[in-house]
Amino acid sequence: MNLTLKVWRQKNADVPGRFEAYEAKDVLPDMSFLEMLDVVNEGLIERGEEPVAFDSDCREGICGMCSLVINGIPHGGHRGTATCQLHMRHFRDGETITIEPWRAKAFPLVRDLVVNRGAFDRIIQAGGFVSVNTGGAQDANSIPVAKTDADLAMDAAACIGCGACVAACKNASAMLFVAAKISHLNLLPQGKVEKDRRALNMVQQMDAEGFGNCTVTGSCEAVCPKEISLSFIAKLNRDFGLAALKEK
Ligand code: SF4
Ligand code: FES
Repeated sequence: MNLTLKVWRQKNADVPGRFEAYEAKDVLPDMSFLEMLDVVNEGLIERGEEPVAFDSDCREGICGMCSLVINGIPHGGHRGTATCQLHMRHFRDGETITIEPWRAKAFPLVRDLVVNRGAFDRIIQAGGFVSVNTGGAQDANSIPVAKTDADLAMDAAACIGCGACVAACKNASAMLFVAAKISHLNLLPQGKVEKDRRALNMVQQMDAEGFGNCTVTGSCEAVCPKEISLSFIAKLNRDFGLAALKEK
């Protein structure tokens, strides 16, 4: 396939950015989206031009580093698929593909397609620790956990912290991310001791970072590569509401 890429280029957050057009030639259908960008970058380097900066690490849907808005949709719009798992067979020969960074005030741009998602780390930090000594693996497994709770906690723990939910939301809300991170601990007996403090602190940090409020449009769930359910936001609201009442 031969493709035209319209890529967002911006040296840093202090200078204006713009779209630049690049030709991606002889793209194989089995290449991943990031491999296609690697080949484009090799061409740029050979011509003495600046390669396009973009984030990636594991390239297998685990780390949450890859973060591209592809044709207007974070991660490209294929259900349960992170950018690094997206293959070029989903595109047509001759197609023009637009590639942009996550756009949200709380994720300041670093360069080109790279944004700073440190706000997510600070929210996790605000959640604090789990004080229950779970011992070794065997001891931890001897704490009875209902199967439904274990399954739900595991579903929430699947969040890879990519930030697509924020990028897709018209309010740049981080509620799906925060809900997943709070729920995966609050649902388990080991995490219940700090349940209230965790909900209050993480929500407070989320607000301090400048993320918007949730108006339940569902765009976060639609683009989430781990298909985190909106129902976790309802659970977060319950956990937060109860904790706030108890504090009063
Ligand atoms: S909730 Fe989904 S979209 Fe949001 S950070 Fe977690 S994995 Fe990414
Ligand atoms: S590069 Fe790790 S999830 Fe995409």
